[in-house]
Amino acid sequence: MEVIILKEPQQIAKKCADIFQETICQKHNAVLGLATGSTPILLYRELVDRYQKQLLSFENVVTFNLDEYVGLAPEHPQSYSYFMQQHLFKYINISSKNTHLPNGIAQNPIRESREYEEKIREYGIDLQLLGLGSNGHIGFNEPTSSLGSQTRIKTLAQQTIEDNSRFFSADEFQPTLAITMGIGTIMFAKRVVLLAIGEKKARAIQQAIEGPISAWCPASALQMHPHTTFIIDEEAAQFL
Ligand code: GLP
Repeated sequence: MEVIILKEPQQIAKKCADIFQETICQKHNAVLGLATGSTPILLYRELVDRYQKQLLSFENVVTFNLDEYVGLAPEHPQSYSYFMQQHLFKYINISSKNTHLPNGIAQNPIRESREYEEKIREYGIDLQLLGLGSNGHIGFNEPTSSLGSQTRIKTLAQQTIEDNSRFFSADEFQPTLAITMGIGTIMFAKRVVLLAIGEKKARAIQQAIEGPISAWCPASALQMHPHTTFIIDEEAAQFL
């Protein structure tokens, strides 16, 4: 496991964009695993910038997002599908047939989860991007998630609902269920990059990197991954 500690969020975005660029340029049909939340926004901006400068093309790139809220349609402004459009997809030359997210309004979310997992296994993810929940979650794999888990429906932890409530207005429906790649799905990726910024993530970072491998901190499973890089700022690194 490699840990890179940088001063500014912008430096984190650039470093991570370098890894994305390397992956996309090395392989004709690179398969990227993408994440949502506030942390990757600067990275997506950097990737758009590099695309506009013609340093990068997404023409042959395939993407799979980590998760989606159950109950939100792709065009709902709080859905992760909408987030990806607004922060990345609409600015780059990626074909909509190559971008995958779980369908949050699937009639049968159990089958949707299984089929999503099968598609990921078929393609194989070259580079998986992760953020980190303040409780150590990755994707929506909350503490106590099985370390070998596959894509499935998860109930969100109270902590996660509170952390993410800042994105919802007071009278707005906030989902409590999500379809998420499992920890086992994430571990299947060839390379993983986890980003964390700010003191709110410091305890989870310390447990993920230095703690025991435990379902209580899902990100600690990455200690067993052969090619994982944590790129974090000094505040998130303060307990290491
Ligand atoms: C959500 C997402 C996670 C993300 C986390 C952290 O819970 N499902 O994938 O890592 O938020 O979000 P932020 O980057 O806003 O702190």
